[in-house]
Amino acid sequence: MRKLILLIPLLLLFVHCRQQPAIPTGLVTEKAMVVSAREEASKIGSDIMKKGGNAFDAMVATELALAVAYPFAGNLGGGGFMVYRKSNGDIGGLDYREKAPLAAHKDMYLDSLGNVIPDMSTKGATSAGVPGTVAGVIAVHEKFGSIPLEEILQPIIALAKTGVIVTEKQSKRLEYYKKQFIEANGDSTKFATNFMPGDTIKYPELAATLEKIQQNGRDGFYKGEVAEKLASFIQEKGGFITEEDLEKYEAKWRYPVVFDYKDLRIISMSPPSSGGVTINQIFKMIEPHKISKYGHNSTKSVQLFTEAARRAYADRNYFLGDPDFVDIPLDVLLSQNYLKERMQDFSFENATPSSKVSHGKVEILESTETTHYSIVDSEGNAISATTTLNGGYGSKLYCAELGFFLNNEMDDFSAKPGVPNMFGLVGAEANSIAPEKRMLSSMTPTIVEKDGTLYMVVGTPGGSTIITAVAQTILNVYEFNLSMQDAVNAPRFHHQWLPDVVVFEPEGFSEELKTELKSKGYNINEERTRIIGKVDAIRILSDGRLEGGADKRGDDTAVGF
Ligand code: DON
Repeated sequence: MRKLILLIPLLLLFVHCRQQPAIPTGLVTEKAMVVSAREEASKIGSDIMKKGGNAFDAMVATELALAVAYPFAGNLGGGGFMVYRKSNGDIGGLDYREKAPLAAHKDMYLDSLGNVIPDMSTKGATSAGVPGTVAGVIAVHEKFGSIPLEEILQPIIALAKTGVIVTEKQSKRLEYYKKQFIEANGDSTKFATNFMPGDTIKYPELAATLEKIQQNGRDGFYKGEVAEKLASFIQEKGGFITEEDLEKYEAKWRYPVVFDYKDLRIISMSPPSSGGVTINQIFKMIEPHKISKYGHNSTKSVQLFTEAARRAYADRNYFLGDPDFVDIPLDVLLSQNYLKERMQDFSFENATPSSKVSHGKVEILESTETTHYSIVDSEGNAISATTTLNGGYGSKLYCAELGFFLNNEMDDFSAKPGVPNMFGLVGAEANSIAPEKRMLSSMTPTIVEKDGTLYMVVGTPGGSTIITAVAQTILNVYEFNLSMQDAVNAPRFHHQWLPDVVVFEPEGFSEELKTELKSKGYNINEERTRIIGKVDAIRILSDGRLEGGADKRGDDTAVGF
């Protein structure tokens, strides 16, 4: 008894130690922070807040600064999603996803035999959806902005004029895509040049387009000179977007997907992004297990996560699409009973082959490039936004007169049920093409609360791997007690139902782990793999300071004060 009494303080200390959040290893600031793919964009966003702007002003600034500093994915010619949480706890989401043009139709990428025409939905003008980014930032500014648009755009226009310094990673990317730039734009294109690290690229045409937006807001892009030039350029190149398409485009406010995981409350993007629904399913399938006890990236946690992801992606690909066009049985897909049932056949003994997993049975009565940034301001308002052109530099089609690349987002539709898109995602009727419909996305801008207060802001690029990368980052902090920076840098893995294969990042997973998984029936990707995602996140420490997690995989940088 006496021994036990002596042991109690030790035990308490142990429990207490385990609950201590990890010591920060990323940039820590007192008040406000932006984490994005380029230092220039993070700095412009952070400076806006220093000048008295709020997180929403900083969102407008960061999004547009990325269009200048990171044309690989930052854009005026693409779209995205944003989730916010105001300091008073109000939450919301904005859908500024591209739309199919009015001339689009279900079989537009099929030949007369009904086969998918190679490259038509991925390259050049035919692959572009109606851009949403400018409508998105203007909608945010109108609803929540606190300083004039003119002031926000000033440093961005200045950056486009003075130019952006090429980093080593960027120089490699530009070299890698050079052939495709020339294919899409001819050999006199600006991007036919060899850019070396340290070179400066100036964007005077982009500066002029931004000036139009600075003067006329949304109409500066969707009407008048810019719209005329854009529509006629796309049509000359064989694409479908008209001035009418541009004029009709509108961003939409949508209530996010919200769910509890233990004592966390997770807020993420709703359809037409699949991100929120799919991480909700994954987390709820994992929740009954004590995953922290299994260990970070251990065989058991990789198995549990993989089996949950396998089932969630099977549902994603079948049920999800643009909610303005299809009925999504969310009440069933997200219900406790349904998800319990989905995991009924899971066992740690053997993998469940994807051939045995289809979408769940739901009775319906009716019928690799993106970028993410996270922002927190000094009031505690939080923004999580992911924006994309789809592929790296989108369709590769560069509108020289206006200074930006066009997206190839049309490939996110299911061109033909059962035929995989460029991310290997197999879609169904719910995501078929229709005029003015939005293509299904995997973008997962997410905000997490713990015990009712702001805990984390997180998101990533990575196509179909976005959802699993976001879920693993949250688990890394919450279940495996990593700092924000370590959670972001930690090696990641991915499974998306089809193809039935677990993909591991090239570094960080032992042969022993892979052998053990193989012995249980898992197919492992043995070829050279790519990195999975570039997560940019912020953790709110218990004393209110902010820790940035800027992914080491890119040029990503946290800036704050
Ligand atoms: O919306 C989507 O899910 C895709 N268009 C995202 C593309 C992407 O993340 C590419 N990045 N590596």
